[in-house]
Amino acid sequence: MTIKKVAVIGSGIMGSGIAQVAAQAGYDVVMIDLKQEFIDRGINIIKESLGKFTKKKKITQDDADEIVARIHTSTNMKDAVGDVDYVIEAVFERANVKLPIFEQLEEACPERVIFASNTSGIPVSLLSSATKRPDKVIGLHFINPVPVMRSIETIKTLVTSEETLKITLDFAASLGKKTVVVKDSPGFVVNRISAIVINEGAKLLEEGLATLEDIDELMRLSLNWPMGPFQLADLVGIDVSVDLLEQIYQQTGWERYKPTPLLKRMREVGHIGRKSGKGFYEWA
Ligand code: 3HC
Repeated sequence: MTIKKVAVIGSGIMGSGIAQVAAQAGYDVVMIDLKQEFIDRGINIIKESLGKFTKKKKITQDDADEIVARIHTSTNMKDAVGDVDYVIEAVFERANVKLPIFEQLEEACPERVIFASNTSGIPVSLLSSATKRPDKVIGLHFINPVPVMRSIETIKTLVTSEETLKITLDFAASLGKKTVVVKDSPGFVVNRISAIVINEGAKLLEEGLATLEDIDELMRLSLNWPMGPFQLADLVGIDVSVDLLEQIYQQTGWERYKPTPLLKRMREVGHIGRKSGKGFYEWA
């Protein structure tokens, strides 16, 4: 199967990043969201990112314009997915938000179309159960910031077909990303580890072991990480991190994934990281 047109459902940080890398790889893209204002924000994120590439002379302004021109948008999912070859769902990380989308996609997309989910930790099998084509449902876990990070985790369920896997691996490679295939298990691989880093960082802070700036600096310098746990939490989002920890905890019962109270309190007051202007740090 040749993929020409890709639908990305969701225009947030992840959805817009995915739409961007697909358009950069030459695919026609339709980025879909509920409201035009969400789409406009997503297009601005894409333009900002492309601006960084043009400033560094990694691409020309003409390239950037062509990439943006390849990204069509829609607020009507049913109409917009009728002629696509591949769908990537990247909406809010809640099963009760994602499941109805998979049900609607099932109705609106031709039978040949593969559905990939950019879920951070919701079982892909659960999402596939909302469709009549579970063999064509797969996880494609992109990493934030998508235009820069080099990997994608591909999640194969018990019933994902070999053909779906092959098409997806070829697609991921065409985006210039390295892919690793993992089992459909809570948090997969990347978030089994990243969620612990964020939770344990918050516990250290609760226990008063050191300041957050010092903990971040220590981890950057000691392990050569680009970011410490609190910078990472602010990038990922405290809301996303708590959801993720709760999902893994609920599915496994492992105490180490129980979100620490500090993270929960921060989510409650809206200190959820870069996107809200305040998380562990203040963001302009
Ligand atoms: N688009 C295009 N280019 C970008 C960009 C973007 N959105 N963000 C950063 N860049 C470029 C910069 O222009 C710069 O380019 P250069 O090397 O040519 O100068 C380069 O990336 C480095 O950026 P900065 O100098 O601004 O800052 P850093 O050196 O700190 O790098 C970073 C930024 C790439 C985000 C780096 O800090 C990093 O790798 N952080 C770790 C990110 C991480 O761990 N992500 C995983 C999150 S977990 C997840 O996503 C899973 C989910 O399910 C929760």
